[in-house]
Amino acid sequence: MLAMLQWYEAAGVDMAVSEEPVDRFAQSAVAPPPARAQAPAPETSSPAIAAPGADADPQTARDLAAKATTLDALRETLESFEGCGLRLRATNLVFADGNPEADIMLVGEAPGRDEDLQGKPFVGRSGQLLDRMLKSIGLDRTKVYIANTVPWRPPGNRTPAPSEVAVCLPFLHRQIELVAPKVLIALGGASASTLFETTAGITRIRGQWRELTVNGHTMRAIATLHPAYLLRQPAAKRLAWQDLLSVKSALDGLA
Ligand code: URA
Repeated sequence: MLAMLQWYEAAGVDMAVSEEPVDRFAQSAVAPPPARAQAPAPETSSPAIAAPGADADPQTARDLAAKATTLDALRETLESFEGCGLRLRATNLVFADGNPEADIMLVGEAPGRDEDLQGKPFVGRSGQLLDRMLKSIGLDRTKVYIANTVPWRPPGNRTPAPSEVAVCLPFLHRQIELVAPKVLIALGGASASTLFETTAGITRIRGQWRELTVNGHTMRAIATLHPAYLLRQPAAKRLAWQDLLSVKSALDGLA
């Protein structure tokens, strides 16, 4: 039994989804074969409403996000948003941490287990490293604003699916617009490819400044290595340090 639980945990299965086990093999064995010709599904007057657990059309998210005129309103909108399947298995919404008035915004990939439990981004091991990285250039959470590309933990810390990222992106874009930072740091490849719309790998694009315009707000943006990667590859801290120094001189230039 213990070996089986360890195997489940290694595979990312780390929570129960219902009280009783369901034998899907038995169910599929007795399921009727799919009908050959099916009547066309009735047109629905509200295509934006997704089935439970399905990801909604990003346009629905864009419309909702646009209506939120403050960060608090945006958080409330996300609290009641049912159009992202990740929400079903998450404990808490992980909206943001830090100072909404900050000049600098950091965007990670997705909350992990500790973030899900506390409802705050970057509070686990990679968050502690992130705090040390910030401290090395004179920053802390009173001087930065931190969010993620998706605000709910993907089960077992899997990579968020493209449809999950797509439906969350309008909320992140609105969050960036409302914070209106002067400098944005994408933490890791997933965040960089989502925000910079690139398929280039993080090792190629890190450390390069670009202009990023989100919903009409233009800022300087840079990608660096994700703290979780640095925990696994400590030798790469050297590269992250170069990026941090570059961020520091950009911030000094703002003063
Ligand atoms: N990794 C992330 O990308 N975000 C978090 O909030 C925590 C870990």
